[in-house]
Amino acid sequence: AIIRVKARQILDSRGIPTVEVDLYTNKGMFRASAPSGAHSGMYGAIELRDGDKATYLGNGVSKAVRNINEKISEAIVGMDPILQNQIDQAMIDLDKTEKKGELGANAILAVSIAACRAGAAEKEVPLYKHIADLSGGGNHVLPVPAFTLISGGKHAGNNLAIREIMILPVGAQRFEEAMQMGSETYHHLKAVISEKYGAHGCNVGEDGGLAPDITRHWVYFCSFKEGLDLVMEAISRTGYTNKLKIAIDIAATDFCIGSKYDLDFKSPKKSGQNFKSGEEMIEIYKELCKDYPIVSIEDPFDKEDWEQVKHFSGLGICQVVGDDLLMSNPKRIERAIQEHACNALLLKVNQLGTVTEAIEVVKMARDAKWGVVISQRSGETDDSFLADLSVGLATGRIKAGAPCRGERLAKYNQLIRIEEEIGDQASYVGQNWRHA
Ligand code: PGA
Ligand code: ZN
Repeated sequence: AIIRVKARQILDSRGIPTVEVDLYTNKGMFRASAPSGAHSGMYGAIELRDGDKATYLGNGVSKAVRNINEKISEAIVGMDPILQNQIDQAMIDLDKTEKKGELGANAILAVSIAACRAGAAEKEVPLYKHIADLSGGGNHVLPVPAFTLISGGKHAGNNLAIREIMILPVGAQRFEEAMQMGSETYHHLKAVISEKYGAHGCNVGEDGGLAPDITRHWVYFCSFKEGLDLVMEAISRTGYTNKLKIAIDIAATDFCIGSKYDLDFKSPKKSGQNFKSGEEMIEIYKELCKDYPIVSIEDPFDKEDWEQVKHFSGLGICQVVGDDLLMSNPKRIERAIQEHACNALLLKVNQLGTVTEAIEVVKMARDAKWGVVISQRSGETDDSFLADLSVGLATGRIKAGAPCRGERLAKYNQLIRIEEEIGDQASYVGQNWRHA
């Protein structure tokens, strides 16, 4: 049974406060922490912050910490940690609000994850195995990692409008080999960028991707191509040409103005002439998918631009991933399934707030034959839970940032350990990344 729950405020990878929980049972102490994104959006669960500008610029989480120590603790001490569903429900009932704004989704999530770890220990099984049991069983599959190589958008101080250019090592045989491919490509890219932009081009964004100042050179019709060409050059130096595919996160909501998309939204020397209509964006995507091995595009349009995203998905050119479009919200997911607005879910567990709800939305996505990407947030901690979650739910894909920086590698390194532990029975999803 759960004996004691103790929370504290720690700092995340951005140096901003977040919640950490130590949950005790007879088996020991189980620790977990909550991540945080660039913006939490209006459909996701609410991250409770103190708002007192004099302390951590308003970002303190002492209220969320107190909610755990005083309220959640009282509600769940004595419960069996194996019963994830009941623990999560107890917190939802205690909160009473739709978006968990009373206790804070950051408070609830950290407890939910810590309880999940305690549940695994109670059963004396690995965490991924316990998660697989909670979701009704199934195989343990090592996901294809989406490594962020170039960062842009709100995640970096360069001029690149789109948030991420990622590589998927679909041609690897094992996760560990995928990791090697990711690391080697990253370091080749560093050299390519250093040659073209100087060493300062190798400064990194929030999730560890390199962030050169993409300048929209005249030979390119848009800045995306400049970034993609750098990645292609790095890939060619590795010799893994056919083994690596590309995924991009456009995060178009960040630069949608009215019905237009401003590709220069971060440029101080805005020409004002780089506004594209939704139709023009579709043409850009078509051309990119023709010229580069792009297999997946995330948030190609504004989160409310349902018509364009439906149209684009219908073309069937590549996988279309819904992140800001869905915000992991079951109602938005349901609508997107009905309307065929996209065909993959980007799951950010902290937008839901509990492990149980995460398992439920993965089932929804799977029933609709969608892909599922387990995703980090730009503000992360050294918590590796997402690695076990991706294996336990056999999602086939994980997006945890660049193959560098401690908080990103916490997840990837855990996958290396899991693969080793499963041994001969381990299967890496590889070329089946789309239908794990
Ligand atoms: P966020 O970014 O955590 O800053 O929201 C992640 C993403 O856009 O996929
Ligand atoms: Zn995204």
